[in-house]
Amino acid sequence: MKEKKILWSLVMVISLLLCGGGTGYAAVSGACSECHTMHNSQGGEPMGLADPQSALLLNDCLGCHTTTRIDPFVGGYPFVRLGSGASDDNCLAGGFFQTDTDIGDNNGNENHDIGAIAVPAGFDSSETTWYTGHSAGGGNGLGCAGTNGCHGNETDLDDMAAIKGGHHDPSAYRILYVGTKGVVGSGAKDYEEAIIRDPGTGVVTSGDTQNVNIYSAGVDDPSISELCAKCHGDFHNESGSTDDCGSVSPWIRHPTDVAIPATWAIGDTSYTLDGDDYKHNPVGYEDATFQLTSGRMATCLSCHRAHGTENADLLRWAYSTQLAGQESGSQVTYGCLGCHDAQR
Ligand code: HEC
Ligand code: HEC
Ligand code: HEC
Ligand code: HEC
Ligand code: HEC
Repeated sequence: MKEKKILWSLVMVISLLLCGGGTGYAAVSGACSECHTMHNSQGGEPMGLADPQSALLLNDCLGCHTTTRIDPFVGGYPFVRLGSGASDDNCLAGGFFQTDTDIGDNNGNENHDIGAIAVPAGFDSSETTWYTGHSAGGGNGLGCAGTNGCHGNETDLDDMAAIKGGHHDPSAYRILYVGTKGVVGSGAKDYEEAIIRDPGTGVVTSGDTQNVNIYSAGVDDPSISELCAKCHGDFHNESGSTDDCGSVSPWIRHPTDVAIPATWAIGDTSYTLDGDDYKHNPVGYEDATFQLTSGRMATCLSCHRAHGTENADLLRWAYSTQLAGQESGSQVTYGCLGCHDAQR
């Protein structure tokens, strides 16, 4: 009996480890024919895109991940591109790509430009040798996945090959990897749609109705900030050394994966984070394990959204709204001031 119990706990521990703190990752469901086409031919006409798509799909990444396909999100297609009227209040957690991209500029606009051949700011060519998006590295242009993008592996140029299996049998948070290790995280089932539209909605941090993302931070996981550092190398410090972003003040870059002091309002664990905190300055946790009592940390996504926003530099809010010495008003609830309460 005892042996059985030990064995069972081992199985539990292993499955917890495999699933990143007990969190499953979302797999697609539905009829094969909704997404795949066996011959891309019906009555002699192409069924999906005229060009053949990998994995016998009817569509490409942005073809599926767009509001025009299913609007609004109904538990089906998480969207990263919206039609006109896209805003910081109707997007999902990753934000959105603009439809009118002005490709080629390194920091000229509000989103990651698909197709951009600029060298990412802070790019470290000695550490990131696989990235073929930028002009000197192959010039394929920034893509969604693989050797020129953010999702999937770092070895396949083809988007779909790079994320192979990610939709049916996911093994990493949002199909994101650093090397061969999956990024750790726990995702909202609705990709934060509800909390972004109405931050007054109650926050649920686990279970089937989880409505906020729990980001990973710290030096042990492949954290979400480490994912960004794949291309923006010098923006993040993984090892505690001072050569990248710094490890103590004077910081070279704003700290990430660093604990928020308990003396700050948002770092005080007796304070329960609300919808505004999750929308405007979410924190990260070691192993992406939501903890009431310790370890709130800053991550790249505390200030940025991954794909884009309404604001310059993919920021969750306009930097210009952040004014020191404001005791009250809506601006003190978010952004820099959401964390730095002493500056209010
Ligand atoms: C909601 C959309 C969707 C549905 C429904 C769907 N698939 Fe897929 N499938 C995808 C996407 C996207 C990919 C390519 C990216 C990837 O592998 O993650 C894919 C990849 C695949 C692959 C190749 C990659 C792998 O996992 O080995 C196979 C095989 C596959 N699907 C079979 C099926 C079958 C069989 C069904 C029905 C029982 C089905 N799919 C239903 C979206 C879907
Ligand atoms: C045929 C339609 C289709 C195509 C093509 C497709 N996706 Fe998806 N994708 C989906 C659907 C549907 C889901 C939602 C899974 C869920 O939440 O149940 C999804 C989910 C995801 C997720 C979130 C996974 C998670 O952890 O919740 C990511 C990331 C993603 N897709 C990236 C991509 C990338 C990158 C490509 C192109 C290489 C792509 N998708 C191509 C239909 C598609
Ligand atoms: C695969 C490489 C790659 C990864 C990974 C990556 N970026 Fe970038 N990033 C780029 C490139 C290329 C540019 C410059 C072109 C552009 O602006 O679109 C850029 C530009 C930016 C900019 C300036 C945008 C502007 O135009 O104003 C910000 C901010 C940024 N990235 C943040 C992030 C964050 C946060 C993450 C992690 C969620 C991340 N990046 C991950 C390649 C990457
Ligand atoms: C505390 C908030 C905050 C955090 C955390 C943060 N950023 Fe930024 N980031 C900003 C602001 C504000 C700007 C624009 C103004 C500036 O550069 O001072 C910016 C600008 C950028 C740019 C454009 C730089 C350029 O040369 O134009 C990149 C790239 C970027 N951030 C990437 C990252 C990455 C990667 C991380 C995580 C490792 C990160 N940021 C974490 C607030 C933040
Ligand atoms: C998610 C919370 C969070 C947000 C949002 C945030 N910061 Fe910070 N900030 C921190 C943490 C944590 C530190 C490091 C504190 C420490 O270790 O003393 C820090 C440190 C700083 C420092 C001091 C660096 C030093 O050398 O001591 C400055 C200045 C700063 N942040 C400015 C900003 C600005 C401007 C913004 C908005 C663009 C911003 N922060 C947004 C958490 C945050």
